Amino acid sequence: MSRSLAVPLVLDRSAATPLGSQVAGQIRDALVGGVLPVGARLPSTRALAGDLGVSRSVTEQAFDQLAAEGWLETRRGSGTFVAAGAMAPVRHRPAPVPRPDTGLLRLDTGTPWIDPRHRAAWRRAWRDVSAATPPPAYDDPAGVRALRVELAAHLARTRGLVCEPDEILVTSGTIGGLGQVLAALPPGAVAHEDPGYRAAAEAIGASGRELRDLPATEPITDLTGAVGVYVTPAHQHPLGPVMPGSARLSLLAAAHAAGAVVIEDDYDSEFRYDVAPVPALAALDRDRVAYLGTTSKTVAPSMRLGWLVAPPGLHRAILERREITHDVPAWPVQRAFVSLLRDGYVDQVVRSARRTYAARARRVTEALRPLATPILPVAGMYATIPLPKARALRVRASAREAGFEVPLLRDYCRTAQLSGVIIGFGGCTDAELDRALAAVVRGLG
Ligand SMILES: Cc1ncc(COP(=O)(O)O)c(C=O)c1O
Repeated sequence: MSRSLAVPLVLDRSAATPLGSQVAGQIRDALVGGVLPVGARLPSTRALAGDLGVSRSVTEQAFDQLAAEGWLETRRGSGTFVAAGAMAPVRHRPAPVPRPDTGLLRLDTGTPWIDPRHRAAWRRAWRDVSAATPPPAYDDPAGVRALRVELAAHLARTRGLVCEPDEILVTSGTIGGLGQVLAALPPGAVAHEDPGYRAAAEAIGASGRELRDLPATEPITDLTGAVGVYVTPAHQHPLGPVMPGSARLSLLAAAHAAGAVVIEDDYDSEFRYDVAPVPALAALDRDRVAYLGTTSKTVAPSMRLGWLVAPPGLHRAILERREITHDVPAWPVQRAFVSLLRDGYVDQVVRSARRTYAARARRVTEALRPLATPILPVAGMYATIPLPKARALRVRASAREAGFEVPLLRDYCRTAQLSGVIIGFGGCTDAELDRALAAVVRGLG
């Protein structure tokens, strides 16, 4: 063991307690607290005295005292150790909460399929990052500027959303951005679709706001009393439809009348199978809509990276807060995404995933025919199949027997009374999907 003790000892020379007792007392506390384990070697009395700036007799007295109490033992020629019998009283430590491991492959709505053939571009991006020097101070509170320039071009090209780089805030994914929007909105209720994205409902609830459920199956026409409304217009989560033009207009009119901000979660519009995705809702009204995008479906949910294009007042409020909190995603992750966008990686993985999802959506529809019909999947990596409750439970049980977890539609409902199952097909192979579908068909039969 080195000269220094793992426990910093602080002596109070003005105290009435003798220095030897202070040293003994503090080492004893460390032993009782389990900081010094059985068998740990202590520094020599000479070295410790030197460190503490006291005479050797002080440390000798302390060690003698602790040895007499049975805490320490001296082994001739090798030093002083925490004695084998010096068991610290068992302190109550909360047991770690085990994460349930069902051993089932979860076919959820959120796991994307990333074509491994594009790994080279991924590695190039990280080599770029490793060659760059990180900013020595906190970086731009809006996010890396080069990234915002790339994102502005990407949003105009892919989402019809024309904005300046300075109107973009880089976020820690959709939920990071939503949290910052919620922190900046004035007090009041926030509405959301039901069934809807559970993480968004959770974030709204956690912000201390009233969460108002609006049926996802009907156009939104009244937002009286709400300061915000969270929606997924490009691909309603988890039912699937695209919000029609008339419903978009009625939503904007209701938000305008209530003075509410529409929070548009554009989580997977890149994966529209047949035609180009409908332009973002934010493209219709930049003053009313806060647009949230994410890398969670295109690159990986573990990137924790996204972007927010908010109405000017909200943008300013979030930026001002960030100037104090520096609550921006990690610089290396932002920097890597610049390379991934510039290098064409994002376009490539999106193109291959879109083809894969379209083929897998067809596989689902064909496998279930004529026993069940999914809500026409037009985009993304999951299909929702409405079923009576008992049948949905039978399907889930049958999938479990085959090693798959198929989420129930009711898990995404708060007050809505919908039943069915959801089959996510991003996080599995074709062979696994076929096995899961065979089990679902057995459950339906
Ligand atoms: C509706 C919806 N929005 C957003 C996300 C992504 O959220 P984040 O960017 O926080 O990972 C998901 C992921 O499953 C989702 O289903």
